[in-house]
Amino acid sequence: MTPQSDSGLDAELKFILQPIGVVRTPYKNSGDAPRQGRSSDAVCVLELLPEFVPGLKDVDKASHLVVLYWCHRSERNKLQTRTPYGETTRGVFATRSPSRPNPIALCVAELLEVNGGQLKVHGLDALDGSPLLDIKPYFPGIDAVQEAWVDMPGPGK
Ligand SMILES: C[S@@+](CC[C@H](N)C(=O)[O-])C[C@H]1O[C@@H](n2cnc3c(N)ncnc32)[C@H](O)[C@@H]1O
Repeated sequence: MTPQSDSGLDAELKFILQPIGVVRTPYKNSGDAPRQGRSSDAVCVLELLPEFVPGLKDVDKASHLVVLYWCHRSERNKLQTRTPYGETTRGVFATRSPSRPNPIALCVAELLEVNGGQLKVHGLDALDGSPLLDIKPYFPGIDAVQEAWVDMPGPGK
């Protein structure tokens, strides 16, 4: 029988993610990185491991990419936090904080250049050396929600 956790999820649903590469940025420490990469002009590099390079075929057909990376230096035991945008303590799932149980960060980056397994991009907020989890094309038709709103202070407001 498959062992069950208290939540009822199968224990085997705890899985290991294999990074597809590493993120190279000028940001060595968290104070150096922008809160959201969209506000930065810094050129960063997504370096893919050789075995994943074939997955880049046609990646240059999109001007912007959704980049998912792992905040490997964050705290994973926090469920509430105060953001830099106000005094209120909020649940981490209501924030873009890097400190969360599964510290997956999302950036929409502008693709500048593809050179083999290296992608030069604008628009990342990752610390140098962050594990790269995934890359997807940004599709304005599905990813930009015209009527979206957020009723709390935060990035871009
Ligand atoms: C507020 S988070 C936003 C991340 C992403 N844009 C998002 O919205 O999911 C960005 C901050 O995470 C921190 N950070 C970036 N890479 C990290 C890493 N590998 N480990 C821990 N913290 C990291 C930096 O301080 C950066 O300013």
